[in-house]
Amino acid sequence: MTAVEAIESEQLSVADFVGDIERLELIFEGWEETPRGVALAYGRAIEALNGEALRRLVSALKRDPAALKAMKAAVTDDVVYGVLRRHNIVKPSLTERVETALESIRPMLASHGGDVELVSIAPPAIQVRFVGSCDGCPASALTFHAGVKKAVEDACPEITEILQVKGSSNGHADGATLRFISPFTNGTNGHWHYAAHLSEIPDGGIKVQILEGEKIFLSRRGSIVTCFENACAHLGLALDDGEVADGTITCPFHHFRYDLMTGECLTAPAVQLHPHAVRVIGSRVEVRLAK
Ligand code: FES
Repeated sequence: MTAVEAIESEQLSVADFVGDIERLELIFEGWEETPRGVALAYGRAIEALNGEALRRLVSALKRDPAALKAMKAAVTDDVVYGVLRRHNIVKPSLTERVETALESIRPMLASHGGDVELVSIAPPAIQVRFVGSCDGCPASALTFHAGVKKAVEDACPEITEILQVKGSSNGHADGATLRFISPFTNGTNGHWHYAAHLSEIPDGGIKVQILEGEKIFLSRRGSIVTCFENACAHLGLALDDGEVADGTITCPFHHFRYDLMTGECLTAPAVQLHPHAVRVIGSRVEVRLAK
């Protein structure tokens, strides 16, 4: 759902707004340098104006104790907090600091095929749930628990207890569920980048795009999504005009055929497509680019 559709249906969330912004940013990335620069400068100018107006507004409200109290209550709203944080008008909330700490530990968890979800925050405790291979293995759970505890306590001294919730996932702290994390995540690190809304990738098909300057394509089977460099392993030519059928893509140039789930070349087994890690959280498809 776009933010405009959300406004019309009165179901607003930060994710709706962020999704719209990220979709537009992906479009800009594909533009030539000059129009891209103009679009980005226009966005920055609007943001600067909004930021200055918000700073003056908050500064005026702080002078009135009753208004200050009302403002503190308003900041508990996700959208208000998100915009004020973007302009550095409020300090990071406890939730943001906990999420940042968990994000810092995720590469280690992912290298073992796992992940961690924040279930709840109630100082001095938080509840987390391990998913993937972290869940169900007592030895790795102990190691992961110690890693999470150190990362969270370093970033949030007010949190002294990390409680582990067992059982299947009910969802992320933002209400979204981790639906898929690819095996290509193992041994990689770096940022997860928003790549697409799940519905933008045809089931059984592919979606081509440029992400952080890298030419990639996503393919999907249900909620399983894979991502590869848009380059044939034969001569490095773009694959996206190739025929997609039965879970494979065939290069339009010399007809090398690849499995879209694994990137394996079915024509010349010694080569394969260059994969990038993917995770699907709710309807958000995120990619971690391999170098
Ligand atoms: S470039 Fe793809 S098969 Fe030759």
